[in-house]
Amino acid sequence: MSNYDIKDINQAEGGRRRMDWAEREMPVLRQIRERFKKEKPLKGLRVSACLHVTTETANLMVALQEGGADIVLTASNPLSTQDDVAAALVNQFEIPTFAIKGEDKVTYFKHIRAALEHKPHMTMDDGADLVSSLFFIEMGRFEKLEPSLASWAKGLSDDERKEMLKGVIGGTEETTTGVIRLKAMEKDNVLKFPVIAVNDALTKHLFDNRYGTGQSTIDGIIRATNVLLAGKNFVVSGYGWCGRGLASRARGMGAQVIVTEIDPMKALEAVMDGYQVMPMADASKLGDFFCTVTGDLNVIDEAHFKAMKDGAIVANSGHFNVEINIPALEKMSKGKPELVRPFVEQYTTKDGRKINILGEGRLINLASAEGHPASVMDMSFANQALSAEYMAKNAATLEKKVYSVPTDIDNEIARLKLEAMGVKIDTLTAEQEHYLNSWEEGT
Ligand SMILES: NC(=O)c1ccc[n+]([C@@H]2O[C@H](COP(=O)([O-])OP(=O)(O)OC[C@H]3O[C@@H](n4cnc5c(N)ncnc54)[C@H](O)[C@@H]3O)[C@@H](O)[C@H]2O)c1
Repeated sequence: MSNYDIKDINQAEGGRRRMDWAEREMPVLRQIRERFKKEKPLKGLRVSACLHVTTETANLMVALQEGGADIVLTASNPLSTQDDVAAALVNQFEIPTFAIKGEDKVTYFKHIRAALEHKPHMTMDDGADLVSSLFFIEMGRFEKLEPSLASWAKGLSDDERKEMLKGVIGGTEETTTGVIRLKAMEKDNVLKFPVIAVNDALTKHLFDNRYGTGQSTIDGIIRATNVLLAGKNFVVSGYGWCGRGLASRARGMGAQVIVTEIDPMKALEAVMDGYQVMPMADASKLGDFFCTVTGDLNVIDEAHFKAMKDGAIVANSGHFNVEINIPALEKMSKGKPELVRPFVEQYTTKDGRKINILGEGRLINLASAEGHPASVMDMSFANQALSAEYMAKNAATLEKKVYSVPTDIDNEIARLKLEAMGVKIDTLTAEQEHYLNSWEEGT
């Protein structure tokens, strides 16, 4: 395999300009990059990254490269790649990149193979596709792999398969769904090296999942449809970090927001936040827009499609394209869906209703828009860069477990972000510090 696979190298100039635009909003990552350039904390480390190939990710790759890492980047979703950015990474930074927007499943896993062939010391995942491929190969569980990746893996000797894993000192994971998969691996004793759950840092999920997904998901739905949100019923499934952000932004656009949940605590929070809460069986009759952000399976299912209004618009912003049961919709529909606009597939049900699925049910904020704005990715990727440095220094002392980002790293990122925003805060006086640490003073 050659050392990159992208759509069009001639798009590099435009990609570089967009990378620079994002970089202006990433002051925390910039400071880390400048320090990395001097200190080279990742010197000699091969890093395989499987992330959404966006302008912000590109700036993270440059920071890691300046820190001395030898990187290969592959897409973590078939639809999220920005082809001009992939071109800029190859052409202007000589970072081997394997990512083409709209690639099929075979190509997606061919690209993951390139990341594995890099023989990483460190993995950097968004959704855990890279580490799970690595583990299935090492365990010889080829039936779990995409067939073409399986046939390549079967061709390797036992020694080569074991060798691939041996060199890995640790990894990092970007998103909620990936962390859930890794914790399940830890529980089943199949996690083979330590992984830092970047998603669990407060400076990640409080901002990226909430404000990033909130804004960019609305952006994706609007870019795909150009339909007015004001006055419409907007159903948000899942009131976690992403769901809270999405619900608040949809309300801000004038929509009447309905929340569906399975967790009583989250449902109660949504009620107190002023939203209508009801089961999907009821919400499916009312929604003009639906967006899932649960990380769960078949949240919008056959029975819900049966109840939907003519013209309903259905999207997903959770990690995998399993939240909407599209195969069930296909079975209920006449013929193939019609691509009525880019990223809008219109199904006609046998009873004559039109149901519009956005972005093939994949993360709509990355499919039809550009993913999270750089300002929140600044913090997410500061966590990635500092977690990689922490792993490089401490891997030998860590167990095969999922670790949180150390609190001092998380706090430092918050401090740097505030500083960059020009926001000053108070500090405790000695008297206050004493008061807050004592139990003797009361009424
Ligand atoms: N689009 C993006 O750019 C982006 C960014 C960050 C995270 N994510 C992904 O979004 C998903 C949600 O992430 P999060 O951080 O909000 O997770 P979270 O765990 O905070 O929230 C998920 C919520 O969904 C609820 N839920 C689960 N099954 C449900 C069901 N059947 N019906 C209704 N609600 C259900 C859970 O109770 C929970 O409250 C994950 O897949 C994550 O990886 C996407």
